[in-house]
Amino acid sequence: MSPSRSSNSLSLASLLTLSSLIPASWGMDCADILTNGVHFNLKELGGPHVVHWSETYPELGQTYNYNFTLDICNKLKWHKDGNKNTECTHGTWVCGMREEVDLSGINNNTVVTPIDIAGSYKSTGNGRTLDEKFTRLKDSKSNADSAKEGVRIELNGGRFPHEEKNGLDQRAIIEFVCDPERTGLEGEEKDDGEKEDSSEDSKRLTRRDGECEDSDKSLRFCGYKKETPKDKGVRTLRLEWRTKHACEKNAPPDSGSHWGFFTWFIIIFFLATAAYLIFGSWLNYNRYGARGWDLLPHGDTLRDIPYILKDFGRKVLNSTQGGGSRGGYSAV
Ligand SMILES: *[C@@H]1O[C@H](CO)[C@@H](O)[C@H](O)[C@H]1NC(C)=O
Ligand SMILES: *[C@@H]1O[C@H](CO)[C@@H](O)[C@H](O)[C@H]1NC(C)=O
Repeated sequence: MSPSRSSNSLSLASLLTLSSLIPASWGMDCADILTNGVHFNLKELGGPHVVHWSETYPELGQTYNYNFTLDICNKLKWHKDGNKNTECTHGTWVCGMREEVDLSGINNNTVVTPIDIAGSYKSTGNGRTLDEKFTRLKDSKSNADSAKEGVRIELNGGRFPHEEKNGLDQRAIIEFVCDPERTGLEGEEKDDGEKEDSSEDSKRLTRRDGECEDSDKSLRFCGYKKETPKDKGVRTLRLEWRTKHACEKNAPPDSGSHWGFFTWFIIIFFLATAAYLIFGSWLNYNRYGARGWDLLPHGDTLRDIPYILKDFGRKVLNSTQGGGSRGGYSAV
């Protein structure tokens, strides 16, 4: 008895380990984001997408220009002539390229630094994983969010600097918000897209804190700040992605309601018929002392139903076979 039980728990344990290992090593399945029974398919939004942001420290005479690249369906690929100094670590899903510009003019150097924000580094680095988390916006604790339709995805695993144990942890939180009018690719900028025009730049400067950038693009930058879900803090890249793929049009509860109505209709019909027959029989019994067939309301009619149907069928048959073939009668 005890051996079989231990082997059962053993196989269960290995199953659990397997299932916990698979997502970590394969990453997230963008075609099937499941949260609280609701599925989202974000496959159409796959491939590398770029978002820009500038941060200026006037007192230091410094500006940081960021290009954030993300692929929600796969890890990012290195460019042809890429190297460790110009690309994020292999296994990165969300990468920040930081360009440090010295405004003072003393030093003309611009330094470019890759920052691993989210990814799976089981075999390629510090061992941290994507550890993706999904939240349906309607189930969100905050009132503002629960009014929206869509899904929030949290991607972890990044750290800067990557190899340093005491580096600052990084993560990306992308809010996919339902907008039936948008595919999600409006204003899209591919990995090696063209330069932004200056009107976009001026828009970016008018952005107020705590809001997403004022842009008509479907994918918008909302912040890159240190947040404190942990003591040490996690620098969090927040993005908003407006798209029809975040709409819950395929939610299951709707399809069931028609059958539910039909079932109720049948049940009520039967109950009503039964009540009519029972009450009618009771009346006949009491008033007229009826017995047997006579108990039923319209008992005569009910008794005749088989004959009426037969008659009706014969009439229909005759009329469809056409008036021409009178000889048809002989067969009956
Ligand atoms: C910085 O660049 C400007 C123009 O490109 C040049 O005139 C100047 O000599 C440079 N300064 C240094 C310190 O390299
Ligand atoms: C960021 O993107 C712009 C436009 O695509 C490009 O000109 C610039 O070199 C990029 N900066 C970095 C640090 O990759």
